[in-house]
Parts: sequence; C-alpha cells; structure tokens
Amino acid sequence: MASSIQQLTSSKAPSIADLYSAVRARTLEIVAPLEIEDYVVQTAEFMSPPRWHLGHTSWFFETVLQKFKTGYQTYSDEFLFYFNSYYEGFGARIERPKRGTRSRPTVKETVAYREHIDAQMSRFIEQLSERDDADTILGIVRLGLEHEMQHQELLVYDIKHLLCDQFAAPVAPAPRSLETVSGMAEVEGGLFELGYSADRGGSPTPGSPTGQPGWGGAVREGSIKSGDKSPHSKNYDFAFDNEKPQHKVFLQDFQIDRAPVSNGDYLEFINAKGYRDFRWWHSAGWEKVTQEHWRAPLYWEQRDGEWMMRDFAGLHRVSDKLNEPVSHVSFLEASAYAKWAGKRLPTEAEWEKAARGSPQSNSKQAFPWGDEGPDESRGNLFENGLWSVAPVGAFPEGQSAYGCQQMIGDVWEWTTSDYTPYPGFKSDFDQYNDKWFVGQKVLRGGSFATPRVHIRSTYRNFFYPHERWMIGGFRCAKDA
Ligand SMILES: [Fe+2]
Repeated sequence: MASSIQQLTSSKAPSIADLYSAVRARTLEIVAPLEIEDYVVQTAEFMSPPRWHLGHTSWFFETVLQKFKTGYQTYSDEFLFYFNSYYEGFGARIERPKRGTRSRPTVKETVAYREHIDAQMSRFIEQLSERDDADTILGIVRLGLEHEMQHQELLVYDIKHLLCDQFAAPVAPAPRSLETVSGMAEVEGGLFELGYSADRGGSPTPGSPTGQPGWGGAVREGSIKSGDKSPHSKNYDFAFDNEKPQHKVFLQDFQIDRAPVSNGDYLEFINAKGYRDFRWWHSAGWEKVTQEHWRAPLYWEQRDGEWMMRDFAGLHRVSDKLNEPVSHVSFLEASAYAKWAGKRLPTEAEWEKAARGSPQSNSKQAFPWGDEGPDESRGNLFENGLWSVAPVGAFPEGQSAYGCQQMIGDVWEWTTSDYTPYPGFKSDFDQYNDKWFVGQKVLRGGSFATPRVHIRSTYRNFFYPHERWMIGGFRCAKDA
C-alpha cells in the first residue's frame, strides 16, 4: 500500500490531478487483501458490502461527468440505482440494508466501472482549464475525493465488522508509549472563535447556487482559489460547509483530560458494575443495556471470566491493552463512563479550544502541534499503517499548547454537542451535510483510519448516539 500513501504524505499540497490518482488508487489498495466472496456480504444494516463502496465512490464522479461533460453517456442505469446512497436528487436507489442482497453488479463489473470512470475523469480534469466554470468543477472534484476518503475510512470499519482478524491487513509495528500522560489540562474560558477560517489556507469566496439539481447547482465556489483553474495547481484548500463560518462562542473555564480514556480506565467502569447501574445512563443508553445486553465496547468478549478484545491483529487480553485508548464505544457509553467518573464529555468548542488554542496568546494553530500537517511522530492516522490505536503517550510531539495528546488520530472523540449548523451556515453541497442536522452528535479529531490529508482540527464528524461500529472513543472534561 506504500506507493500512493507516500505520494499523498510526501507532498503537502498535491494537485487535484495527483490527488485524484492517489486517492482512487488507495481505495483499491485497502480492499486488495479481500477474497472475491468478501466483497458482496453485508453483516449488518449499518455497514455496506465492500463492492458497494467501490461502485458508490465511482458513481459520485459519474454524476459530475453527467452534469458537466458534454455528450457523456451514462454507463448503466442499473449501476446508478445500485450505487446511489441517499441522494434524493439523483433518483431511485436501493435501500441501505439491502445492499448485500444482490450479487450483481459483480465485483469484476464494478472494477470495470471504476476503470471507465477513472479514464473519463482524468481526461476531463486535464481539459478543465479551458472552461469558465473550472473553479466550480474543481470544487466538486475535490468534494468527490474527500467523499472517497470518508468511504475509505468506512471501508476499514466495514471490513472490521465483516472479517476482523481474518482480514490480512498490512499491519505495521505499533509505536511504544514514550511518556505517561495523566491528569487534566486547565483551559481558560472567554471568547473563542469556533470553526474553519480561510486565513489558515484556502479562500472561500461565496458563490450563488443556481438551484439546479445535482452537484453543479449545489456547490459554491468555495473550495478552490478563484482564478486558478489549472488541475496541476497546488493552490487549493478544503473544508466542509459544516465547519463554517468561524464564529464567536463564550467558554467558561474548564478542564479536559490530557489523554483519551484508556481501556484500563474503561475496564474499571465495567468492573465497578457500570453497565448494571442505571444511575450513570441516559434513558436511551439504559434501553440498550437492558434490551441489547450491552456489557462492554463492541469487539470485546469474555472468556473464562477474562475480558478479551478482537481487532485486525487478533484476539487480545484487555489486560495487555490497558494503556490504549478505548474504542468502539457509543456516545451513550462514553456519557455513562463520564458521569460515573464524576466528569462530563467536552463540548466541541471546548475540544477545539484545547486542540488549537494557546494559553499564551489569543491565536489559533491549524493543528495541536502547530500549522504543519500530521506526520508519523504527531499522530496515528491511516498512513501510519497500524490498523489500530497506538498506546497513550506514543505521540508527545503531537501535543497541544495545553498538553493534550492524541487529539488528532487514534479515535474519533465524542463530544456532547449536537450536530447542528453553525450560526450563519450556508450549504455548499446540497444533501451532503445539511440533511443530517438532526439527532446526531459531533465527534472530533479523526482516527487511525482517517487519511492525513483529510483531517483538520475543525472537522466535524457525526454519528447517532448509539452507534459504535466506527472507531469512536472519548476524553472527559470538567467544569473548572
Ligand atoms: Fe457516500
């Protein structure tokens, strides 16, 4: 898997054309160890068969070709139906829980579809500079690549659910913990500017949606610097609409854990009969505990009275993994733990301040360690190749000005914030983020399955409070 990953990490600002080839190649590298039978199986309603991800990410680019490439012939109506996910504007589609009930299109046909779309897209991108609407189209292509990176991460979750340690993941050796990280950081309150701002790169210039269906009518000229139409330009930056606009919030003084909650911490909650005591749980959480018999994070199992956990590398004693961040816990479990521990979950504004702010000055950095992008010594993201969390204390160089570690990478961290639009929100992409602004919670920071070029400190991921098949963990906060 090294080739395209290195391309992505060695160049801090690849062109859209380079990013396109690297991102598309990596999707295929992720699935390479699968056997043909693995591609079509759906093990739960919430996951998708790997073959579906391969086709769906290509479907996204086909909608771009349909909209903008003169004379483009649709590849197959059947594929359009099967590979659409939830975009009402693009017609009928198969329901998500039924994606695994069909063996067609076959894997071979899906790969041929991908190759067709890639050939069309590379010619299309090369010729973009001749067009007046190049900015708009480059913005949508970039969105398509960010979308594909989201699906790469989903593929890791779904392959874990499908095969777990039967999947021959190319697992790199894990780094050692270099220091003990304990206690809570004190963070001063006051006004904080929450969210993405163009002054950290990028130049969102508001455009006006045309109101036409499809990406073309939906995307503002927000992601690409105006006037720079070359597909080889390095002059671009990206943030999702849900991270904008930057706006002022007022924070009280607070404390936040310097490290994510570990398996060892969480085991204490289990051993203290945390899953048997309604006092710690939201009503929705207690319902899961009583009706679905939750007793531990997903992928934990008890053998002869001992807690074990399964991951890509095999079945492990939890007692051998005590110093690793806990993962595969839902918001409901994270909240119960926090209440039991006499703490609470942070708001997303508190999380972002602890990650990007500084007690010395009022300025913000792009990442906890500074303005440069992530690398191997600062956080555990997909390119580290661990296919797993790293021990607490493995990335002291990645710590924030407040001394918080592993905020980027390892596990997405639950916050107590509802996933709703920021004040002044304007949708850049119809149906992409804005249709999900109800009932979900925000998670921050990325996981070991998140590509480096995809993560930002302002990135707002979102899942339903009961979901735990994704790589979700948490750290706690406390009022000062
Ligand atoms: Fe999608």
